[in-house]
Amino acid sequence: MTKFPDLFIKNIGQLVTAAGASKIPKTFKGMSNLGIISDGAVAIKDGNFIDVGTTKKLKNKHNGEHVKIIDAEGKVVMPGFVDSHTHAVFGGDRAGEFVQRIQGATYLEILKKGGGILSTVKNTRKLTLQELTEASRKHLNTMLLHGTTTVEIKSGYGLDTKNELKILKAIQHLQKTHCMDIVPTFLGAHTIPPEYKSKPDTYVGLVCNMLSKVKPYATFCDVFCDDGGFDIEQSARILSFAKKLGFRLKIHVNEFKDIGGVPLAVKFGVTSADHLDNIEHRDILKLKRSRIICVLLPGVPFFLMKDAYAPARKMIEKGLSVALATDFNPGTCPTVNMQTIATLACLKMDMTPAQAINAATINAAHAVGMSHRIGSIEVGKQADLIMLDIYDYNQLPYYFGINHVNTVIKQGRLVVKGRQMLDLN
Ligand code: NIG
Ligand code: FE
Repeated sequence: MTKFPDLFIKNIGQLVTAAGASKIPKTFKGMSNLGIISDGAVAIKDGNFIDVGTTKKLKNKHNGEHVKIIDAEGKVVMPGFVDSHTHAVFGGDRAGEFVQRIQGATYLEILKKGGGILSTVKNTRKLTLQELTEASRKHLNTMLLHGTTTVEIKSGYGLDTKNELKILKAIQHLQKTHCMDIVPTFLGAHTIPPEYKSKPDTYVGLVCNMLSKVKPYATFCDVFCDDGGFDIEQSARILSFAKKLGFRLKIHVNEFKDIGGVPLAVKFGVTSADHLDNIEHRDILKLKRSRIICVLLPGVPFFLMKDAYAPARKMIEKGLSVALATDFNPGTCPTVNMQTIATLACLKMDMTPAQAINAATINAAHAVGMSHRIGSIEVGKQADLIMLDIYDYNQLPYYFGINHVNTVIKQGRLVVKGRQMLDLN
């Protein structure tokens, strides 16, 4: 066996490694440290990084005849984005509701009248497994073109056993046929379906019943614990059942209202508590004493035209582990672009570009339980990286609303080149 890599990338102007936090997520000053190597290089073999350093140090070591060499010509290279919270499997869209909201209707008003999530449930139930899978594959391809190499996907637009399973099977099919890593989450507790409007607790029982059936398909169980979703008691019932069955846990909390979701998250030792837009000081302190990753989703208040954003700067100052994600879904955040989310994190939550990049890579990898394999550029880790058409990482959120990603390497394989997806067959 040759000692030479399969792929050598050199002349990287700023190699953003986000290294040193595979075991414990970044906090405090660590959030500001991107582990940058100037004029960097990486060597990749069998899907993993085998060497990381300066071009000067690495170039004579890795110049075998059969090595594929990419010259980054001074551009920025960083770990692929980890989008740790999405609802990417759904039918239809809600562009009509977008117009209603601009004209004054609120998200919760629309939901309470049977629209919102429930209209997406109708459109999702209508599709066959294959139609649903192909609709979602398009979204995943757009994600990949925008630099996301790992994505968490929740079910939650089926809201009955048959359709929740259909969504999870679509996710499983995508896991097998798409190059991205996909982390599946069961969110049967997304909202109460119309059939159970007058008997919500019966639906909670049904969700508990679904758990053993969906177990082979989902790593995490999530609950929407908020106004318009499930109350504390209902959420606790589902989470404790899921925990017993061996699911890892996530929770949507404090997106619309503080109904006491954070103490519940702490009690159950969830891996991540997501949203946290309406959070009190006392709950920030509670999260500080836990190991919970706070997944912040600034695309949501932005798209819902709200002023309440999670207080990210304060959370970082207090020592919380902050991650970022899109929450990609047809109602509250229809973008898959993690670069835009980084811009919103900077402008609306006072994060610096460096903090936003750590939050969107290594800390997000912790939020999906994959920090040992992905999220940073370090020897031994899976070679997931992106090359951007920028020369300073601060330009990533600064030139906002566009795609900077030129090249994507997933598990050592070139999957996007010159902004085009390659045909991998
Ligand atoms: O994370 N509010 C709950 N769930 C999603 C929205 C889903 C939808 O509106 O379709 C969220 O914001
Ligand atoms: Fe969500």
